[in-house]
Order: sequence, then structure tokens, then C-alpha cells
Amino acid sequence: MNTARIVIQDLRFAYHESEEVIKGINLSFNRSATALIGENGSGKTTFVKLLKGLLRPISGSIYINGYNTATTTVAKLAKYIGLVFQNPNDQLFKQTLIDEVMFGPLNIGQPILQAKASAEKALEMVGLSNSKLIHPYDLGLSDRKLVCIAAVLAMDTDIIILDEPTIAQDYLGKEKIKQIIKELRDQGKLVIAITHDMDFGAETFERIIVFHDGHVLLDDDTKTVFKEHDLLKEFHLELPHITQLGRKFNFPEPLLTVDAFVDHIKNRNHQKPSYPL
Ligand SMILES: Nc1ncnc2c1ncn2[C@@H]1O[C@H](COP(=O)(O)OP(=O)(O)OP(=O)(O)O)[C@@H](O)[C@H]1O
Ligand SMILES: [Mg+2]
Repeated sequence: MNTARIVIQDLRFAYHESEEVIKGINLSFNRSATALIGENGSGKTTFVKLLKGLLRPISGSIYINGYNTATTTVAKLAKYIGLVFQNPNDQLFKQTLIDEVMFGPLNIGQPILQAKASAEKALEMVGLSNSKLIHPYDLGLSDRKLVCIAAVLAMDTDIIILDEPTIAQDYLGKEKIKQIIKELRDQGKLVIAITHDMDFGAETFERIIVFHDGHVLLDDDTKTVFKEHDLLKEFHLELPHITQLGRKFNFPEPLLTVDAFVDHIKNRNHQKPSYPL
């Protein structure tokens, strides 16, 4: 028996009869930080909505912490799985940040003081603790996305899914989100994030799943996936910038971070024979 946190068996889904957008997916997830990548329209958002129980499969099954999503209410699943929506406007509906972020914890039954403490901690994590009483729509898109992330963090679920978390983020925003994902992973949580940002993907995740037209095209550790440059190119996916640079220097292995790149150069120079002048 597969005891992973998420088990997906032959999953199929269609918005309109006979037009499947998820075409038979088998996957399992345990504690890890995993990125889902793939072209626009390949089914990534649909897939994570199925995991959260917001859409129902036409066939196949999904188990979240052992619960079959077909027979478990969305309210019950919400204790185990949180989803940050692709578009913040689909998620935000309260008058202040603190109310917005407290809503989830209250909804899963936390007493009000505990919910407030959870919300304050989550706003602190995303760097918005000084804006508690502001209306979410008085913030720009990048901060609204951070509010959505805080709203999910506050629920302290075992599984956290982020649909394009770095949308509209500048360098510092991306670094903040990267640190949050690493922290969650270190706490033993399962984090799944959809991203179009390959640099962020390479630097943040240990596993990458590539979607194409409702199928899984590749599923492997990050380095192995970014070895497949020809296949990725065929499906209009770029390598991370640092990996592209490494290829220009004919490095044998894909390098995923600037630090790894610098270390590689240092080691290479160190190994060169030195000649007396
Ligand atoms: N609510 C909907 N009703 C009908 N079709 C939909 C709906 N949402 C998505 N689709 C279609 O389902 C397919 C998969 O869409 P989905 O949003 O899951 O892709 P995605 O990989 O998340 O794309 P992107 O990278 O652009 O966010 C697309 O063909 C899309 O047009
Ligand atoms: Mg999407």
C-alpha cells in the first residue's frame, strides 16, 4: 500500500464532456519541495484544484493523507491541504489583512485567539505585519499575493500548494518566498508550487514535474530534469539562466545556482596544473 501524503491514480478530468484536460496522471508525493512546470494550458492549475477537492475527477482517484477526495468534504480536506490561488482576486474577500488571514484558521475550528496568533505569525513571515488593518485591495498585486500565501500558512496544513507564487514579485519578494518554502520543507511539510520561473524552480525545489497537455512528461530530481534541454526546448521550456551559462562553458553537469556555478569555476581553476614562471 502506498502511504505517501498524496497518492494519485489514473486521474482524468474534463471541464466539458469529451474534452479531457487531465489525461491519466499517476503520481505520489511525500515530504519534499516539488515544482510543477509546463506550458500555458497544460493542466497545472486544474491538477492542483483537483488535489484540493475544488474539482471532482471524472475517473481515477486522489488520496490526501489517506482520505479519498471523492468521498471527503472540501472542509475536511482543508485541515490537511492549503492552496494559494494563481490569481489573488479569486482568493481575497475580507476587509482587512488580519481578517483575511484569520479566516482559514477560524474555518478549521481554531479558537479566535489562536487564529489571531496564527494569522499574525503568518503575516510576519511574509513581511506584512505592519499592514494588518489595511484593506487587501489597497495593496499592489505582489503584496496581495503575499497575503494569499499568509492566509494559507496560517492554517499550518501538512500540504501547501502555491500556484505561481512569484507572480509580480521583485528579487526580494522571490527571495522571501524561496526562504518560506525552504522553511516549510525543513519543518517536514510537503510543498508543491507551480512556476514559470525556471531560475526560481532550480534554486528552490528538489523535484520537478513537467506537465504537457494533461500528461506528466518528466518527473525527476531537479538536476536530472534540467539535463533534458532538448526535450524541454521542444515543449517551449527554457533552462534556468545559470544552467544555460554552464552549457556555454561546456560544463558536464547542469548547475542550478550561482553559488554552484562559482564553486565549479573555483574547483576547475584549482585543479589546473600551475607552471613556475
Ligand atoms: N474554468 C474552465 N472552464 C473550461 N476550461 C478551462 C477552465 N479552466 C481551464 N480550462 C482549460 O483547461 C486547460 C488547462 O488549463 P489550466 O488553467 O489548468 O492550465 P495551466 O497549466 O495552469 O496554464 P497556465 O500556465 O496558463 O496557468 C486549458 O485548455 C484551459 O483553457
Ligand atoms: Mg495555471
